[in-house]
Amino acid sequence: MPQSATRSGRTALTERDLRQALGRRTILVTGGAGFIGSAVCRLLRDTTDCRIVNLDKLSYASSPAALAAVAGDPRYQFEQIDLCDRTALAGVFQRRRPDAVIHLAAESHVDRSIDGPQAFVMSNVVGTFNLLEASRAHMGSLPEAARANFRLVHVSTDEVYGSLGDEGRFDEHSRYDPRSPYSATKAASDHLAAAWRHTFGVPTLITNCGNNYGPYQFPEKFIPTLIIRALKGQELPIYGGGANVRDWIHVEDHARALLGVLAFGTVGDKYLIGAEEQRRNLDIAEIICDLVDRTVPRNQPSRTLMKHVADRPGHDHRYAIDSSKVRAEIGWRPSCSLAEGLESTVRWYIDHKDWWEDIFRSGRYGGERLGLQATGARGS
Ligand SMILES: NC(=O)c1ccc[n+]([C@@H]2O[C@H](COP(=O)([O-])OP(=O)(O)OC[C@H]3O[C@@H](n4cnc5c(N)ncnc54)[C@H](O)[C@@H]3O)[C@@H](O)[C@H]2O)c1
Repeated sequence: MPQSATRSGRTALTERDLRQALGRRTILVTGGAGFIGSAVCRLLRDTTDCRIVNLDKLSYASSPAALAAVAGDPRYQFEQIDLCDRTALAGVFQRRRPDAVIHLAAESHVDRSIDGPQAFVMSNVVGTFNLLEASRAHMGSLPEAARANFRLVHVSTDEVYGSLGDEGRFDEHSRYDPRSPYSATKAASDHLAAAWRHTFGVPTLITNCGNNYGPYQFPEKFIPTLIIRALKGQELPIYGGGANVRDWIHVEDHARALLGVLAFGTVGDKYLIGAEEQRRNLDIAEIICDLVDRTVPRNQPSRTLMKHVADRPGHDHRYAIDSSKVRAEIGWRPSCSLAEGLESTVRWYIDHKDWWEDIFRSGRYGGERLGLQATGARGS
């Protein structure tokens, strides 16, 4: 438990708790150039004395700009490595001698997993396998005390639990039932992390989180797509009827929860992380339209740009998370409401037009609809 919870009776996870508990550990963050990983690197830099090793292959989804604030810090190092390269991965462990790993590297976009599942199997399953094996070998080389303190936090998604009906929430006991190639590869990686703990004693902890939003999220994802297209006055695609429900969390709240689980979580346990902000996609689109209109007044309300388009194949109906365990055991709480978080996120995309325009200009993503590949079509 965080010190502040035991001493004061409060159950809040504070920055002081994190700084004290994590000390000067060397933390290997995989996928640290991605949306959530870069938020983790920034948080580690800003609130702890840890050394940060960011391991990332730099894919289309990476954003070096998201690391500008940490890149020059003497406590920060970058390793451009693909998790599928076992030799290079072993070299990172030998050079950097990490005390802990936060594993975020993955292919992350469901629509892309429909168009090309192979990349997801490679990075999410084979990559996680390689990381677990490298961690196991590394632990074998550590003195006893360091080995006892080593931790690996495996970062996963609520999508591994499949789709809810109109009632109920996922919790740590929910049955795995992945439906998309993305969630199937994440489920496989969760099972590998759990098996390496049981069989080989690699001290893994697993987190499953809902849909993240916030600064530096790649424009292919739902919320940036809406903001950017509304700002450009372009049609706003709503998959199917728009009734699909997601449980939204600000990326910085997720990053803080991950450090909390690393510092105070129980090895072998899993933690579901959610901010209790379940909304229909249609409702999110309306909120964003209104926020954009309030900030950048226009003749025609952005809501008139909303258009229902063909649904995602196998689109999960509803996700909702019961996060009582991470709140009770780690003392974590979200720091902002969805309304506050969306307002600051819309403001961020307005203020960082150069960042997303550069992604389109460079051809990393053209704004096209992904993931409509029909059954029996080409494959990866
Ligand atoms: N975005 C969400 O809403 C969300 C929700 C819950 C869990 N997650 C999980 O959090 C993690 C991070 O998600 P994100 O949204 O930041 O993803 P992202 O796509 O923005 O970033 C992923 C990063 O991982 C790197 N990467 C991918 N494959 C790699 C490989 N083989 N070797 C080295 N680096 C590789 C990419 O280059 C990229 O920088 C993922 O594991 C994802 O499943 C995401």
